[in-house]
Amino acid sequence: MKAKIQADTKTFNKGQFVGDYEPKNNNVYAKTCTLESMHVAEFEELGIPADQRVKQDGIAFLKTLPDHSVPCCFFDPQYRGVLDKMNYGNEGARQKGRATLTQMHTVTIGSFIYEIDRVLVPSGHLFLWVDKFHLVEGVTSWFECTYMNVVDLITWNKERFGMGYRTRRMGEYLVVLQKAPKRAKGVWSVHNIPDVWSEKQMKDHPHSKPIKLQSALIEAVTRKGDVVIDPAAGSFSVMKSAYAVGRHFIGCDLEG
Ligand SMILES: C[S@@+](CC[C@H](N)C(=O)[O-])C[C@H]1O[C@@H](n2cnc3c(N)ncnc32)[C@H](O)[C@@H]1O
Repeated sequence: MKAKIQADTKTFNKGQFVGDYEPKNNNVYAKTCTLESMHVAEFEELGIPADQRVKQDGIAFLKTLPDHSVPCCFFDPQYRGVLDKMNYGNEGARQKGRATLTQMHTVTIGSFIYEIDRVLVPSGHLFLWVDKFHLVEGVTSWFECTYMNVVDLITWNKERFGMGYRTRRMGEYLVVLQKAPKRAKGVWSVHNIPDVWSEKQMKDHPHSKPIKLQSALIEAVTRKGDVVIDPAAGSFSVMKSAYAVGRHFIGCDLEG
């Protein structure tokens, strides 16, 4: 059985997606689709500020973006679970900084993912940061009702000893998801990115992520001038990564 999904061309043009979907093995494949994402000026025409730090709730921000409008999103949730597990009692300034950030429960994370799935163009990418507990427990159930599939995993070696009752943490993990149709050819253009990446963490935020790794990934899945989004941007490391490779950024954080 085929279902035809027609984007609402009244609200936007460039971000429109017209595709013939064929449900198959609990997955969705598009036979034909356009990969045109929206230009930064078109977002600005809609009153969405680009290339600046915005203080806003991430779900409210995502709701302002049209369907199928962006090729690349980073999402780094403020996991509640980790703070529960990391009750060490000897917390330093960095750990105290973490505890003051607004945490996200699974339902909130699910709402972010629902909106991210909606705004990504066909074959667009979500880079989802996870800690080792979520990696082991698995995050695939979060994507059951979306068009996204896990397509890769990258380990970030922070080159710095963290906490740990048993081993000391040095790594974080980046799950790579792609909205249907799943494909690498013609969409992923950089082929020398290793799946273990060493880069020192910046000290401007307790959770800041590696600028150079994010830049390499942005280059791989977007074109010059494209827009990259991050709805919970923290130190706005994704904005810095996007600038470094000539892309635009749209995003926010509850803390600004
Ligand atoms: C893990 S940090 C992100 C760090 C970021 N990737 C970086 O490189 O700096 C998560 C961020 O989510 C923010 N946050 C929590 N709830 C939010 C919400 N509902 N909307 C937007 N941001 C939120 C927190 O303020 C925190 O800065």
